[in-house]
Amino acid sequence: MSRAEARRQAERLSALGRSLFFDSSLSPSGKLACSSCHDPAHGFGPANSRAVQMGGGDLQQPGTRAVPSLKYLQAVPPFTEHFHDSEDEADESIDNGPTGGLTWDGRVDRGADQAAIPLLSSFEMGNRDAFEVARRVLTAGHGKEIAAIAGSSKAAADPATVYRIALKALEVYQQDYRTFYPYSSKYDAMLAGEAELAPAEARGLELFNAPNKGNCASCHISKRGNDGTPPQFTDFGLIALGVPRNRDIPANKDPAYFDLGLCGPLRNDFLKREDYCGLFRTPTLRNVALRQSFFHNGAVHSLRDAVRFYVERETRPELWYPRKADGSIDKYDDLPERPKANVNMDAPFDRRAGDAPALTAAEIDDIVAFLGTLSDGYRPAK
Ligand code: HEC
Ligand code: HEC
Repeated sequence: MSRAEARRQAERLSALGRSLFFDSSLSPSGKLACSSCHDPAHGFGPANSRAVQMGGGDLQQPGTRAVPSLKYLQAVPPFTEHFHDSEDEADESIDNGPTGGLTWDGRVDRGADQAAIPLLSSFEMGNRDAFEVARRVLTAGHGKEIAAIAGSSKAAADPATVYRIALKALEVYQQDYRTFYPYSSKYDAMLAGEAELAPAEARGLELFNAPNKGNCASCHISKRGNDGTPPQFTDFGLIALGVPRNRDIPANKDPAYFDLGLCGPLRNDFLKREDYCGLFRTPTLRNVALRQSFFHNGAVHSLRDAVRFYVERETRPELWYPRKADGSIDKYDDLPERPKANVNMDAPFDRRAGDAPALTAAEIDDIVAFLGTLSDGYRPAK
């Protein structure tokens, strides 16, 4: 294939992917498109404040996790258990542990494989199988484009080909940089020397970076890579934060049910790895101010509270966790007893009950102001 032809092929796939992404006729309910949960006006995250969304043929089947943003996923590396950052390549012994992969637990690497999950999940779009998806894609009128992409007029007669091309098209659409990774935030403008942060935003950035204050940048990286790539505000590591159990998630009505991320149950290749229980992928903080539910289980509903969690988890645990029958605090209550040992203790979590918090209320406000500079679509006031 010539370069021009390859480009044309990518454009065809992207255009098809775009129309599939917004097409609710791909779901049996006729009501759910990818965009129903991943709304472009909210950084391709959810438009509402629900912890989890409803899906399935009757739109009554609740999900178990908060809907992540689809922006900046191009930078997520494939899942690996032993990540060696190219920036510390000189030291081969630095093993950053489980890193990367798509979804909160990193269980797929490619956008095409990821797209199959919601199309077939009984609590998301709810198709029975690939054949049903293929039939819906054709009914929606995409047979001709599929034939053009496959380079064969017979392609539309083969459901496996239709399905494969539809998944690929969704992947290619989500790689369109203008839509999915424009780097058009105020922070990017500041890095380019085209904007200045307001005083509160600048203070917030400093607190975000400072190891003895927020220490946020140790996981949510705020500086450019050595090769000049813009900051992603994540190191893609899978980490256990011990976020409180969200009692609004119907699955959590069963006290024996735990969403343990890397060790299952949605992911099933590490079910025996207790040291992996409770680990979820560090999300980018780009566009985080557009969200109304935070963390993998959507347990927190304001950005300020999300920042406050880091400050108070160890110093004021009674504000975050319920009490057990004996009156003691049920810390990290969304984890069974043994995996509680996996919970991360780095700063700002390196404190004890009663210690001074790492950030004052005013400093938390500053960090929230700074996080607001990470939303795309910044236009300097003239
Ligand atoms: C009913 C709501 C819903 C619908 C519809 C939906 N998604 Fe999602 N999406 C989610 C949730 C929830 C997650 C997190 C899943 C997990 O971690 O297991 C997710 C995760 C993803 C991710 C991984 C994001 C990351 O941070 O790694 C991608 C990519 C994605 N969805 C694309 C799509 C595409 C493409 C469609 C349409 C074919 C779609 N989604 C339809 C709810 C939805
Ligand atoms: C040790 C690594 C680490 C540090 C330090 C850290 N984070 Fe996080 N952050 C994570 C992980 C992992 C998650 C996802 C955890 C989950 O959902 O279970 C997360 C999630 C978040 C979220 C929710 C994003 C979303 O899309 O739901 C926000 C907001 C956030 N972090 C802000 C901060 C701020 C502000 C700081 C500093 C005060 C900070 N983080 C420090 C690892 C870290």
